[in-house]
Amino acid sequence: MRQSLATATWLAALLTSLLPSTAESVQTRADDFTSVCNEISSAISSASAVHWPGLDLAYLTDIGHWATSSSAQSACSVEPGTTEDVAAILQILAKNKTPFADTYPDLFFGLKGGFNNFGIVTKFNLTTHAQTEVWGGLITITEDQLDKVNAATVKFSQSVTDPKAQILPTYNFLLGQPGISLILFYDFPTPPAGIFDDFLAIPHFTSDVKTRPFLDLVKAAPANATGGQRAIFHTVSLLEYTDNIMAAVVNETKFWGQRLSLQTGNFISYDVEPFLPSIFSHSAEGSSAFPPSRAKGLLPLNIYYAWGLDLADDAMHDAARQSAAHLTQVVLAEGQDVADAALYGNYAIFDTPLERIYGGNLARLQALKAQYDPENVMGLAGGWKF
Ligand SMILES: *[C@@H]1O[C@H](CO)[C@@H](O)[C@H](O)[C@H]1NC(C)=O
Ligand SMILES: *[C@@H]1O[C@H](CO)[C@@H](O)[C@H](O)[C@H]1NC(C)=O
Ligand SMILES: *[C@@H]1O[C@H](CO)[C@@H](O)[C@H](O)[C@H]1NC(C)=O
Repeated sequence: MRQSLATATWLAALLTSLLPSTAESVQTRADDFTSVCNEISSAISSASAVHWPGLDLAYLTDIGHWATSSSAQSACSVEPGTTEDVAAILQILAKNKTPFADTYPDLFFGLKGGFNNFGIVTKFNLTTHAQTEVWGGLITITEDQLDKVNAATVKFSQSVTDPKAQILPTYNFLLGQPGISLILFYDFPTPPAGIFDDFLAIPHFTSDVKTRPFLDLVKAAPANATGGQRAIFHTVSLLEYTDNIMAAVVNETKFWGQRLSLQTGNFISYDVEPFLPSIFSHSAEGSSAFPPSRAKGLLPLNIYYAWGLDLADDAMHDAARQSAAHLTQVVLAEGQDVADAALYGNYAIFDTPLERIYGGNLARLQALKAQYDPENVMGLAGGWKF
């Protein structure tokens, strides 16, 4: 069972990445990391494995990331196969005697939206539910039809309350012009009449909408088409999509698409995710690290840029920040009170202050962190850190 890729990737990153916050403690010679790898290699059981750079494909898989800007070389990668090995490995890394593999129910709060701050989950139970076939697929639409997609998106966002229905229009600047990848989804083999009619009436470039297994629908999203490039995400949280907001999304797509394509930016995109306002109503207030408040449903707009050269990193990061700031102003001008709305941690740019993601939950998360990872072992890996 050497399948804990998340763990493996974390350990890989751990043994190399010189993160700003831990740079001093990690900045030793590469030889020192190799000796850590050797120590792990002799401590683990045969259920686990250490992989080395060179001819070992598992090493490349372990350190690889969808965005190359998030991949890092390491002295080795480690794939733990048992809970005991995870504990042994972390103790070698931490050189302390903190017991690790055990059950801590209170950590569940922190793990829900709290990323990798408390240790490594070695076992969890998943309750499964039967899934019917679903209806949906990917429609691609060219620039001349953008207004119709905007109008249909606003109408869907403001009027559809059926929780089985969802759309994901992505505004992309690709190959010199804006266009849309639109995913339609209904969680049943056929949708009721009406919900998607406006979208289906728009002339399209391609469409593969049909009744299909759920997994097939998931694979219809071209999520991997921009793999292997550098990437940045950022986000704006809003309450509702309006005509002005959609017009601003199109404007941002063109504005930054034209400018960033001159700097190896080859995919400039804005994902519009009009979830129901009841999105946070399915769990109790205070039951998870994110969101810090369930009083209002927040719709996370995802800004995503992909580019080729690391020389352009700063320009791309700056543009994502400027674009999010501009869109936030547009949303505020629409009367939506989102100045302090929590930002979704999976999308927020890397140096977003923790308060903007976790709000009033931050103190509780920092206390949990101090209790369970007093030596800050998880601080050796990247991500949001309490
Ligand atoms: C998880 O599943 C195992 C195996 O069926 C069971 O023994 C255990 O009680 C379950 N734990 C929880 C929290 O449901
Ligand atoms: C996804 O893209 C990456 C980078 O281009 C590639 O290495 C990988 O094989 C692709 N995966 C799938 C499932 O297509
Ligand atoms: C288009 O976006 C740019 C960059 O955010 C902004 O400066 C400009 O005012 C926008 N134009 C319109 C018409 O909204």
